[in-house]
Amino acid sequence: MKLLLLIIISMLFITPAFTQTSKARQLVSRMTLDEKVRLVIGMGMNLPGLNQSSSGTGVGLSMDKVAGAAGTTYAISRLGLPTTVVADGPAGLRIDPTRKDDKNTYYATAWPVATLLASTWDTKLVEQVGKAMGNEVKEYGVDVILAPGLNIHRNPLGGRNFEYYSEDPLISGKIAAAMVKGIQSNGVGTSIKHFAVNNQEKNRNTVNAIVSERALREIYLKGFEIAVKESNPWTVMSSYNKLNGTYTSEEYDLLTTILRKEWGFKGMVMTDWFGGKDAVAQMKAGNDLLMPGTPEQRKAITDAITTGVLDIKVIDTNAERIVNYILNTPAYKKYVFSNKPDLKAHAVLARTAAADGMVLLKNTNVLPLPVNTRKIAAFGITSYDFVSGGTGSGDVNEEYTVSLVQGLNNAGYNLYEGINSVYTKYVTAEKAKQPKKSFFEEFINPTPRIPELAIENNLLGKSADETDMAIITIGRNAGEGSDRKVENDFNLKEAEVKLIEDVTAAFHAKGKKVLVIINAGGVIEVASWRDKADAILLTWQPGLEAGNAVADILSGKVNPSGKLATTFPVKYEDEITGKNFPGIEYPEKATNTGMFGMKAVPAEVTYEEGIFVGYRYYNSFNVKPAYEFGYGLSYTDFKFSNLSLSSKNIDKKITVSVIITNTGKIAGKEVVQLYISAPAGKLDKPSEELKAFGKTGLLQPGQAQKLTFTISVSDLASFNTDATAWIADAGMYTLKIGSSSTDIKLSSNFSLAKEIKTEKCNKVLLPQVAINELKK
Ligand code: BGC
Repeated sequence: MKLLLLIIISMLFITPAFTQTSKARQLVSRMTLDEKVRLVIGMGMNLPGLNQSSSGTGVGLSMDKVAGAAGTTYAISRLGLPTTVVADGPAGLRIDPTRKDDKNTYYATAWPVATLLASTWDTKLVEQVGKAMGNEVKEYGVDVILAPGLNIHRNPLGGRNFEYYSEDPLISGKIAAAMVKGIQSNGVGTSIKHFAVNNQEKNRNTVNAIVSERALREIYLKGFEIAVKESNPWTVMSSYNKLNGTYTSEEYDLLTTILRKEWGFKGMVMTDWFGGKDAVAQMKAGNDLLMPGTPEQRKAITDAITTGVLDIKVIDTNAERIVNYILNTPAYKKYVFSNKPDLKAHAVLARTAAADGMVLLKNTNVLPLPVNTRKIAAFGITSYDFVSGGTGSGDVNEEYTVSLVQGLNNAGYNLYEGINSVYTKYVTAEKAKQPKKSFFEEFINPTPRIPELAIENNLLGKSADETDMAIITIGRNAGEGSDRKVENDFNLKEAEVKLIEDVTAAFHAKGKKVLVIINAGGVIEVASWRDKADAILLTWQPGLEAGNAVADILSGKVNPSGKLATTFPVKYEDEITGKNFPGIEYPEKATNTGMFGMKAVPAEVTYEEGIFVGYRYYNSFNVKPAYEFGYGLSYTDFKFSNLSLSSKNIDKKITVSVIITNTGKIAGKEVVQLYISAPAGKLDKPSEELKAFGKTGLLQPGQAQKLTFTISVSDLASFNTDATAWIADAGMYTLKIGSSSTDIKLSSNFSLAKEIKTEKCNKVLLPQVAINELKK
């Protein structure tokens, strides 16, 4: 009683601090109409190589605070609100590395791309990467990094797949949440993007993605939902595309009904750059900030308010959310940034992360390779011109990339000079011929990779005689603006096929082995040539320490523990989404209203595969992929044992534990994947779905570790369209613990006594046409 009295008295005397929200509201109430309108529109953009007037951009103030950033917000000095800076992107901070009349450099760490980070299946490691990435954001004077990206790898040709994590929403959401937590622990913000259903680059500004409510909820929104609920990103970036008929940035039900009301998102939404068409509709939808901002948008919004088409309350709410954001930024807090992040320390972490997400696809007694006993001939132009990351806004301006041969040299491998010198000369000469292009020119017309070099037979024979083994690297690059192609990209080029044939024939004739390295941000065809290789290592695009990280895996300093978070099909034709990728175009209706005055071609894509994306399709329809979701080899073996469930009946939750023992001779880590198969019920279900995952620590030979997972009833629920609710069916569920989605080591059952509606949702975002959805 006394205590209660004390609390009440102290509450009466302590003036409560302004919550950020009420402070924001108060600041907005002091703004003029013009200030409010300027605040909801970014400050324009200075694109190198692009004539500003042609894009109609540039509201006013310069972008000079941090050169090379993507955009800034409007400052209202009389209210103490500074301009804030946002910059790309998912693989690290993207800013200009050098500045006019300034001898200092502003390089950032090129971290391994998102596909690789997801392949680590290690949320702790990703959080650490995020922490270091966020430190660069803060120390270079940026307030928000436009990352992470978590669209779905719907189809292997997606041009930006390297910026996204997986074909599966659970791993996408969990890895994104870890990244957001890490970055935001610095007191800077993130922008999870591109919300939502932006799974292709072709016609990205016009395409209407037609998706069923169920596929939308279960596959395309789920990852965002997890990230929002688990990590509170400061901002969300809406996408370019239309979703069931409306631009996502103009869709109230996406940005307000679902994101804010259903999921409880408290932050700010910004558009993708020049995304959407109707600024007033964007305001009404709850797309608070229009980026990078144009004078036309300012006029449209001002006119709409003046004529009463747009209620000022809408702008007040949006402005309030922007102010709330600004109040949290380092810019508002007058943080004195150093421009000197610890790039050396970050490179060490980038190397560790890179090695942890590489996936060993095949190994017939080739790896690990003792450093001191081997002489290696390295083939393929990519061995000399390794790809650290993808192109476009997801690219980073790093100071260096360690190539494969440099990495092998650093590790002490003995490289065969006869082959080295031929490639080095060729790659240097070809690079010199490449035209210097601005970001914009490169965006419109990407420079193709240097053609593969044909190695003359005599030299090949000699190198097989004089060395112990060969390495061939196959490289790929892609990025925003276009998707990849089947020919000469997903499928190997003729010259690459010949290189693999010739090198393997020459080396195998001498009883010597060949390792193929795949240095790509996404998936390529492997089934037609993998039998020729003795080992295959998928390095993805591993960031600036690339070659060193590969050498760590080859030497055995790091035992590979990466697993695929995206399926490698046998052939592109097996990919069910291929039937509807990238959709139908209507060129006769093209206008010149596209980004940067480019053609805008109306298009639509219907997601007829429904929820059967990636392994949900391959496993449910018994289509055998080349390498399945969750696959990856190690230099050691693991035993899975003692699967134990806290109960055979689920009421709210059950706890699941399993013991993993390293039964081999080398220390290593294992990824443990928990899949669940639902009982036959009202809905068509995938044969199994990933519901949880974990990774052991580094287990020494003989060492064991217990991993524990919690499964809630809501994890069992599917989105039932008729009921507009998530429903967990009654019946017997099979729980499978796997080392991949098909390599199931242990399984058990549990029951749900009666059907449970775990969440009622709003009936929104309905497709405007019937979809002929795939059924099992
Ligand atoms: C991309 C975004 C990026 C933005 C700013 C857009 O073209 O789609 O991912 O954040 O540019 O650079």
